[in-house]
Amino acid sequence: MHAVGIVAAAGSGLRLGHERPKALVELAGRPLVAWAVQTLLEGGVQRVVVAVPAADRAAFAAALGPDVELVEGGDTRTASVRAALALAREDVDAVLVHDAARPLTPPDVVARVLAALAAGAPAVVPVLPVVDTTVSVAADGSVTTEVARAALRRVQTPQGFHRQALVAAYAAAHGSAAEFTDDASVVRASGVPVTTVDGDERAAKITVPHDLRLAELQVAAP
Ligand code: C5P
Repeated sequence: MHAVGIVAAAGSGLRLGHERPKALVELAGRPLVAWAVQTLLEGGVQRVVVAVPAADRAAFAAALGPDVELVEGGDTRTASVRAALALAREDVDAVLVHDAARPLTPPDVVARVLAALAAGAPAVVPVLPVVDTTVSVAADGSVTTEVARAALRRVQTPQGFHRQALVAAYAAAHGSAAEFTDDASVVRASGVPVTTVDGDERAAKITVPHDLRLAELQVAAP
């Protein structure tokens, strides 16, 4: 299976408290985006395209070297992935979309996603169970409903798709008012079923400074 990886790396670092894009923030001396690219390649993806903020293209090129293709991202994650997807040529069977913000994702997760795609699933997401009691709250903060957690899952990346399913879903979603927070939601909105494989706690997303501190500990004592 010929698979291309897309890394969404065009977000800002605001919640992490950094001036520069989050994907360029360093973990153990290497930018987050470099970790994410390496995971995809080690897991079995042949080529990687990274969506970057237009203003920081040179810094990303310096961080990633000449073998990684860069594309200008957009205002939303969906727009960034759409821009990168345009570079996934028709000879590609599968596209894996990964967040730069998940630097310590083990390559095994990539391999599981690829295996499910090779077995025929058109769309695959890595998931983890929800371990906390989970509730809905009203605007005033009061609890309105306990949500039965047994059927709930937290969805991670990389998310894998047969190329044509992802391209068609992004074309169908173009101009829609829906706000998508991941790619499987875009694909599911087009009527394609999404299957799951086991995720990994180490694939946690780095959002706030505490997440980065945890990742540093994980690198120091794996
Ligand atoms: O903001 P959040 O952490 O949810 O972003 C998830 C991923 O999407 C990050 O790796 C970020 O760089 C990327 N992103 C993007 N383009 C945007 C916004 C976010 O590529 N406009």
